[in-house]
Order: sequence, then C-alpha cells, then structure tokens
Amino acid sequence: MSARLVVLVSGSGTNLQALLDACADPSYGAEVVAVGADRGGIEGLARAERAGVPTFVHRVKDFATREEWDAALAEEVAGHRPDVVVLAGFMKLVGEAFLAAHGGRVVNTHPALSPAFPGMQGPADALAYGVKVTGCTLFLVDAGVDTGAIVAQAAVPVEDDDTVESLHERIKGAERTVLVDAVGRMARDGFRVEGRRVLLGR
Ligand code: GAR
Repeated sequence: MSARLVVLVSGSGTNLQALLDACADPSYGAEVVAVGADRGGIEGLARAERAGVPTFVHRVKDFATREEWDAALAEEVAGHRPDVVVLAGFMKLVGEAFLAAHGGRVVNTHPALSPAFPGMQGPADALAYGVKVTGCTLFLVDAGVDTGAIVAQAAVPVEDDDTVESLHERIKGAERTVLVDAVGRMARDGFRVEGRRVLLGR
C-alpha cells in the first residue's frame, strides 16, 4: 500500500511537483493525498489542482490567534491521515498543536547545509558569508527553527558570479532530488531515529 503524503506549500511548488511526478509511478510507494497552503493564489496550489489532488488553505490572518491557526492546520492535515507530512517551501513555523498531532513524521526541506544558515534566508546568508559550498537539508521538524534531526543532505558549489537567485535555483535542483529520494525511501522502507541520527530502512 502506498504511503500517504500531505504536502504544505507557500510558493512556486517545484518541490511539490517533483513529488507529484515521482508518485505517478506506482513503484515509488507514495501518493500525495492533499496539498495545503498558508495563502491562496500560488503556483503550488495550481500544481496540485492540475494533478487532481485536493487542496486546502489556512491563512493565519483568518484566525484570532496563531495557536488557533496551528490547531486548525493540524486538524485539517490529520483528516487526510498522512504517513508523512512534507513541508515543501512552507514559509510558516508549525506550532505545538501541529507537532503534538504529527511530530515525528513531518519533514521540511531547507536551502542550506544545516546546522549552517537556519531561517528564511538560507541562500542569501550563505552567499553573504562567503562559503564555497552550501546545499540543502531534509530534516524531521521539531520545535526549533531548522534544528530537527537530519534525514538527508546534498552539497552544492557556490560560484563566483552567483546571485542569491542563481544560487537558490542550483540548491533547489539538489533539493528536488534529495526530497524525492529520501521521501521515497521513508515511504517504502520506513525510518527510525537514534538520538539525532535518522536511519532510513528497516
Ligand atoms: C525551497 O528552496 C525550500 O527549501 C525553501 O523554499 C523553496 C521552495 O521552493 N524553504 C524555505 O526556505 C523554508 N524556510 P518551491 O516552492 O519551488 O518548492
């Protein structure tokens, strides 16, 4: 039986698209059962609609408090009975209620090599620091900002003529490969966590 993936997005959804494309092959072992967002009118939602995947939107500003938004998001996601929740360019931190409901099976992709450059500006921070190698990190979400146990990483070179945009595009290429590979392995083979180490497979 395919693992059920719920994917949360905030933007262009190229990582989501990579997952949708992978899931088209039954041997991949997973299906995207719903796509959620914190805003409407984004390409990520359009990609889901074109693939025939149900979507939902919960905007923080439609709730009285951030906690109520988080609880509503957690409940909506739970309704889709996910085996793995994938934050794929989801530009909000999930909170206590979300982690209480789904913690341990929520992965996030971050455009830097953790533990370097956490936060919203991974590519810009790497470029400004002057590192020659950066990359992407898929991790299990915990209560911190990009601090969770690492599932998979890939390195990407920084070129002398890079802009934030060109560097981020190169990183996103690596992210899509890492995401599809690691989520597929989690879906087909399972995973376990020993301390801070995530071990894919039985
Ligand atoms: C990706 O690079 C992802 O790592 C980043 O947003 C991009 C989404 O691209 N996420 C974060 O920075 C989260 N803090 P996409 O919408 O084309 O998949």
